[in-house]
Amino acid sequence: MLPRFSSRAFLAPMAGVSDPALRLQCKKNGAGLVVTEFTSIHSIIAKEKQLKENQKTIQEFIEFSELERPISIQLFGSDLNALAKAAKIVEPFFDIIDYNMGCPAPHITSQMAGGALLQEVNLTQQIFQTLVTSVKKPVTLKIRSGVTNASKFLFRDIAQIAEDEGIQMITLHPRTVSQGYSGHSDWNLIKELKEISGIPIVGNGDIVTPEDAKMMIDETNCDYVMIGRGAMGNPFLFEQINDYLKTGTYKQYGLNERLDSFFEYLHISESYKIKFANIKGQAMRFTKGLRGGSRLRSEITFTKDIQSLEQVMKNAYLKN
Ligand SMILES: Cc1cc2nc3c(=O)[nH]c(=O)nc-3n(C[C@H](O)[C@H](O)[C@H](O)COP(=O)(O)O)c2cc1C
Repeated sequence: MLPRFSSRAFLAPMAGVSDPALRLQCKKNGAGLVVTEFTSIHSIIAKEKQLKENQKTIQEFIEFSELERPISIQLFGSDLNALAKAAKIVEPFFDIIDYNMGCPAPHITSQMAGGALLQEVNLTQQIFQTLVTSVKKPVTLKIRSGVTNASKFLFRDIAQIAEDEGIQMITLHPRTVSQGYSGHSDWNLIKELKEISGIPIVGNGDIVTPEDAKMMIDETNCDYVMIGRGAMGNPFLFEQINDYLKTGTYKQYGLNERLDSFFEYLHISESYKIKFANIKGQAMRFTKGLRGGSRLRSEITFTKDIQSLEQVMKNAYLKN
């Protein structure tokens, strides 16, 4: 059974972005569910072997905090034996196991994983069956609508197979794989999926304001919304969406509060092994919309360590 979610707004899995510090911040700000960055089933198996020899668990590799719960781990990879093994390794630690069938990156689709699977009905069915029978925790799915414009309705069959095999929730990002991030996501497809499905549907794509979130819910009748880019450097969005859905209004945050929020991120990140390059990326995102932001971002690029990054970000307060 799916856990109870405290909010209808979820944080999307984002490689290099939805690290444990950002996830915890979004959770504190009211996200109903957070999802790890996508993780290769093969890397989980290899790491677990290594870690076991040192009497450590997979949590050293996929870091998270208890405060994030409910937390979902996203897997990718289509080797059925490896999939079963990896799912069993992570199962004790996570509340939901999510499967990635949306990633458009060529290095993923070329290994028959991510979005490329949308056109592999038989393999897909075996993947769902393998996952659902290997673990007791709920298994969910994240998909794009199709591969090319000509196949943009592939989601219909895949969703039906998923439901038949016992997948408990589907997130749809209604763009095709070949579309990448261009154009606008086609929310009509979320509406259609909701109409044909008997399991909860999470709508995803192009939500950047609380108004967008409400509009997606109103237009598609989706059960939950998932936010990716709109939450980058902007964990306040979850609180704003929750308030807006409940009361029709929400608190606006100023630029200095955005900077405060970055320092909160930085403080949380000290507890995890997050690469400095990724922390710099987060700093850039927290400076979106700040006066002198582009100059600030070029200064961030040249920082070599946390101390110099902190100094650059502290100086930004004076300018805002
Ligand atoms: C930097 C970045 C990394 C992403 N990594 C993942 C990932 O690991 N797994 C996944 O399912 N989707 C991934 N996505 C897609 C998002 O989860 C989401 O579906 C997409 O960004 C559309 O939502 P948005 O318009 O709210 O950003 C990524 C997106 C971005 C921008």
